[in-house]
Amino acid sequence: MPALLLTGIGELVTLDPAHGPGLGLVRDAAVVIEGTGEGWRVAWTGPAREAPEADQAQDLGGRAVIPGFVDSHSHLLFAGDRGEEFAARMAGTTYDGGGIRTTVAATRAATDEELEANLLRHLREMRRQGTTTVEVKSGYGLTVADEARSLAIAARFTSETTYLGAHVVPPEHADDPAAYVDLVTGPMLEACAPHAKWIDVFCERGAFDADQARAILSAGQSSGLRGRLHANQLGPGPGVQLACELGLVAVDHCTYLSDDDVTALADTGTIATLLPGVEFSTRSPYPDARALIDRGVRVALATDCNPGSCYTSSMPLCIALAVREMGMTPAEALTAATLGGARALGRDDVGHLRPGALGDVVVLEAPSYLHLAYRPGVPLARPLP
Ligand code: NIG
Ligand code: FE
Repeated sequence: MPALLLTGIGELVTLDPAHGPGLGLVRDAAVVIEGTGEGWRVAWTGPAREAPEADQAQDLGGRAVIPGFVDSHSHLLFAGDRGEEFAARMAGTTYDGGGIRTTVAATRAATDEELEANLLRHLREMRRQGTTTVEVKSGYGLTVADEARSLAIAARFTSETTYLGAHVVPPEHADDPAAYVDLVTGPMLEACAPHAKWIDVFCERGAFDADQARAILSAGQSSGLRGRLHANQLGPGPGVQLACELGLVAVDHCTYLSDDDVTALADTGTIATLLPGVEFSTRSPYPDARALIDRGVRVALATDCNPGSCYTSSMPLCIALAVREMGMTPAEALTAATLGGARALGRDDVGHLRPGALGDVVVLEAPSYLHLAYRPGVPLARPLP
């Protein structure tokens, strides 16, 4: 098996408890990754002076190395552009999710080739910024055929695919939302389940209520999909409590939380996936991540990359915002963007650099992971090999 020794690592973030608590930092470190038939795996990490022999070596010149980011929440199956909507928002319009319908129309009108090219462009953009695992949702097709083709395209590029037929009720069903829920839990689910790992619902005023969300998640689970939820994004609501009650692995947004919501998250261990790019791009108040962590809530950070509420693909930007605006330490933010995302996807092979993990090694053009927050907007992260 070919092995590559990465040496000259000034600071290595392993998130391996074998190297200490928290980030599992090793200074003057080395990493050995081994090529298997299916890709690279971490074989060894530790102080450079103890590194084993390998077929090839690469000196990283004192740069820092971290695990690749795990972006556990994105909406990359879309066509069209909503730059004008963003400009209007910056001039005072409030984000209410209404623009989703604009993207639905553009997505329905796009060819498979156009959707795939747009997805690939965004996945490459993410990778160039250090993201090595990406979850991708449907949700801009909202017909049986358009949801199914969205997921079939996504499944060619990631195993983390999420069926979001319950994004909003499309215009043609506006008079009969119950019929749309029947479609989402019936023929649409049947067509989408073979291409999806997860099922998600936008549980929010103007989208789907708690009863509808419960029915949709339950139908998805009967078809072998695991549930996750968009909740408490635009205002307080029942979604976070529902996610905790159902024992979902993650509930995403969590912008408007009550004290009871925080207690439920802490008690159940459901991960609160925070998406600070959304608050940035919609000029909304940021969730208080400091308070959540201090209360024992497990948090993840993700981009929510989509053409409406947040059109960034940058996990480093989310880390910088989490530190600057949400009271997280740089170490907590990096952990939430790697291990946190992995946990939110139920994955134990990514989000850390323990032996056996996927060899998703990211080199920073910096001496320390601190620079991710310290140097916002600077492209520091580069995946290897
Ligand atoms: O996660 N909240 C629902 N869906 C997306 C936004 C979709 C859009 O505006 O196009 C989100 O923010
Ligand atoms: Fe989202």
